[in-house]
Amino acid sequence: MSWKSYNQNTLRYNDLGFTLDLSLMDIEPGFYQTMKLKIDKAFSDIKALEGGAIANPDEGRMVGHYWLRNAELAPTPELKAAITGPLAELKAFAAKVHSGEVSAPNGSNYQQLLVIGIGGSALGPQLVAEAIGQDAKLPIFFFDNTDPAGMDATVAKLANAAGLDKTLVLVISKSGGTAETRNGMLEAKAAFEAAGLDFGRQTAAVTGTGSKLDQFAETHNFITRFPMEDWVGGRTSVLSTVGLVPAAIQGIDIDQLLAGAAAMDVETRKPDLATNASMQLALAWFHASNGKGEKDMVVLPYKDSLVLFSKYLQQLIMESLGKELDLDGNTVHQGLAVYGNKGSTDQHAYIQQLRDGVNNFFAAFIEVRKGRDGNNIEVDPGTTTADYLQGFLRGTRKALHAAGRKSLTISVPEVTPFTLGMLIALFERATSFYASLVNINAYHQPGVEAGKKAAGEFLALLTKVRGEISAEAKTADQIATATGADTEDVYHSLTHLANNGEAKQTLGNTPAEDTFIA
Ligand code: PA5
Repeated sequence: MSWKSYNQNTLRYNDLGFTLDLSLMDIEPGFYQTMKLKIDKAFSDIKALEGGAIANPDEGRMVGHYWLRNAELAPTPELKAAITGPLAELKAFAAKVHSGEVSAPNGSNYQQLLVIGIGGSALGPQLVAEAIGQDAKLPIFFFDNTDPAGMDATVAKLANAAGLDKTLVLVISKSGGTAETRNGMLEAKAAFEAAGLDFGRQTAAVTGTGSKLDQFAETHNFITRFPMEDWVGGRTSVLSTVGLVPAAIQGIDIDQLLAGAAAMDVETRKPDLATNASMQLALAWFHASNGKGEKDMVVLPYKDSLVLFSKYLQQLIMESLGKELDLDGNTVHQGLAVYGNKGSTDQHAYIQQLRDGVNNFFAAFIEVRKGRDGNNIEVDPGTTTADYLQGFLRGTRKALHAAGRKSLTISVPEVTPFTLGMLIALFERATSFYASLVNINAYHQPGVEAGKKAAGEFLALLTKVRGEISAEAKTADQIATATGADTEDVYHSLTHLANNGEAKQTLGNTPAEDTFIA
């Protein structure tokens, strides 16, 4: 570690209070020269993308999330209106919820919010709520899975808090056809109806115009619907209606969130390596992982409110960069694995391995300079908990470096709507740049589709297997022969049915000897 290297490898945006320190990534100056052609291409790719090019070729779509925080940059008046119109509408809606003009059917003001969504339609709203939603006017709850027990637990929490009758529901799905979200909506509807409530009259939707959800919302008399445009990807939708509707309902300052992202965009839009933090970040990832994802990124914010940032980045980066084919159709199996939680908590968990074990990662520390708003007490003479937090961050960074482990450090003054917007924009653009550097499409998700298709096949088999269960005890093999299906798939269908009260299972010495009966 050297002071000289720190000074040479640290990029600051003084107006934003932002610092990116790459001094412990051990990037030799010659690296940037070797990357020059790729860097130039990445700058020209993003210029074209922001200009409205079809940057998602497989889906034939524009990629417009950078316009969301500065609608003036949208390439046509129609696109600009598709940003400014819904923004004004969602603000007006949130204001009416707060004033009681939009109220529950029983006349009460809404007191809590249930968001139903998954992936990009949940992780952004969850990050925003956790990071800057502490003083929310309406506390927020989520269904982000198709786990019935998880939904029951959330319904119980809603009922025990303000009550279902004072709960506003927001169903978020760009496609409007995602199974988990559809299931969550139907489960919530059933719970509301069991409580004697009219689900539609307490529910709003964010979805693509004309989607299945849009149609459901219309036929079930939802309070209102907000559009989700096809040129915004799920994992980059936090600053679209997907993230802004729940944020505004919570009372979060969405103008500041957008302003922070816009301010970071201004800096990282410049095609200048020396001053572009997103490009420098993407190049640091490339250098550390040999442009092939050979090292994982461990995200360590030293601030409880940023605990979901690693989870959010995991989706943003891994769903964007984890691709089998490059843009020329070559098999590349690209990606950058991301995990993490928070410091100093993780120092008592996996950081032991980071320091002493397999060196297959680099760390991304996030420093929040301000400890708290209120007064500090002394936990040791002259020392506060904020001092400890900073001490642990600096100590871990140094200890990792001493053991030959690389790290980068991003610093922001405090966690506010503005700085969260900055961080989101920083990583969104770094992901765009990295995709260009390694020549892949960051904006589609063919692997997710493969999983959905296989799940659909399993569900179809389950229906067939259900029909084969009778008063006669049968093995999985017998039912597989009758249905023409794979025996292991049949076996897992049978055990699922047995564990959910639809069959009785008698264990044999091996799964092949197990029998199932009605
Ligand atoms: O980033 C993505 O595209 C995905 O993670 C989606 O957000 C996720 O699959 C949910 O999709 P939808 O919003 O269409 O329900």
